[in-house]
Amino acid sequence: MSGHGTPIPMISHPCGPLVGEAHVPGDKSISHRSLILGAMCIGETRITGLLEGEDVLDTAKAMQAFGATVTNHGDGAWTVSGVGVGGFAEPDQVIDCGNSGTGVRLIMGAAATSPITVTYTGDASLNGRPMGRVTDPLALFGAQAVGRAGGRLPMTVVGARAPVPVRYVVPVPSAQVKSAVLLAGLNAPGQTVVIEKEATRDHTERMLQGFGATLTVEDTDEGRVITLDGQPELAAQTIVVPRDPSSAAFPVCAAIITPGSDVLVPNIGLNPTRAGLFTTLQEMGADLVYENMREEGGEPVADLRAKFSPDLRGIAVPPARAASMIDEYPVLSVVAAFAEGVTDMQGVKELRVKESDRIDAMAKGLRAAGVRVDEGLDWWKVIGLGHGNVPGGVRVASQLDHRIAMAFMVMGMATQEPMSVDDGSPIATSFPIFEDLMAGLGAQVLRMDA
Ligand code: S3P
Repeated sequence: MSGHGTPIPMISHPCGPLVGEAHVPGDKSISHRSLILGAMCIGETRITGLLEGEDVLDTAKAMQAFGATVTNHGDGAWTVSGVGVGGFAEPDQVIDCGNSGTGVRLIMGAAATSPITVTYTGDASLNGRPMGRVTDPLALFGAQAVGRAGGRLPMTVVGARAPVPVRYVVPVPSAQVKSAVLLAGLNAPGQTVVIEKEATRDHTERMLQGFGATLTVEDTDEGRVITLDGQPELAAQTIVVPRDPSSAAFPVCAAIITPGSDVLVPNIGLNPTRAGLFTTLQEMGADLVYENMREEGGEPVADLRAKFSPDLRGIAVPPARAASMIDEYPVLSVVAAFAEGVTDMQGVKELRVKESDRIDAMAKGLRAAGVRVDEGLDWWKVIGLGHGNVPGGVRVASQLDHRIAMAFMVMGMATQEPMSVDDGSPIATSFPIFEDLMAGLGAQVLRMDA
């Protein structure tokens, strides 16, 4: 589990063209939900393409602790024999979600309307993140949470014995909070209503419908109103997990900034609630095209072709797009360093409560590498130096954050001097094949002696 092991310093050397195909792993959001929903229905759910990163493996362990049978058949093929809605058993151990905010928040929701008491913990990063955003709505169902100051893990949640349905307006744009409330609503009688003012990733809604729940979505003046009928019988499913656009972001951005590159990233899920980065890169002048656009399992899918783009320009990224690319700002800020002009990113306060404070982590590393960054509470601007002009040549802190580590490794492919990070071990939480995949394209990302 990241943060519990030995740090792995890594270096990325400026490299020649990146060329070839990059087969990135399964989608992290859909992988977590496949395991959790599989555990909440009766029968056997079959999953292929599961992301076998540490975050998802921690969720698999947790589902076993709640009484589901989770089996790894190899090569991303897994089965889950569920216990049914309301069937979770009380785990006899603390649930350790490692580095995963998605894992812990979704599981807390799923367990909060069962009469069981569960204690949750995580690594140093997760134990510093706010859980009140989830435990506040769960209290409305009747669950009680006691954690550390500021609503931090470790935390014990006493599930509601007689849950009541809730109507909840999500105060921050967060799919994790929305999903926690919907998963809790599964075991409450009557209708649970969740309202979000800004649309966030909608995998939970789509998958709940796929598993047989009655769920409607309506766009109203109040926002996106999601209504779920409680206590359904969920039916086991066969799930093919699409490849993760948030992981695709790294080889795509690496190709865009590295001279001579031409990389194909096949089979990427392009759900509009996830694809904001690719639109932004195109607006910046990146040579990025969707090939072979198609629909799979109700989701748009395409092969992404990214080529070196010498004439990138900074843009103002519309705040309304933030939720659809929230995990991609670290690597976007790297691309911005190689653009001419200012890339202005507004309405991104949520970046401050991710696996790290991502504005702070990126700003520190970019500045050390010779790039000017201005920042405020919910915005930041990268003042681009243009292609070939980014110095690099420093070691930066990854702050237990996989996306910070990968963003700086991508940066080192095109800076004048190599970039290194103090600890690349968190990369295994979401993209365990990152080093091999990048090496296969021609990158020189190497482990160093501590
Ligand atoms: C996720 C939601 C996002 C995202 C995270 C995955 C999900 O977090 O950053 O990586 O699967 O629901 P928030 O909901 O906190 O924005």
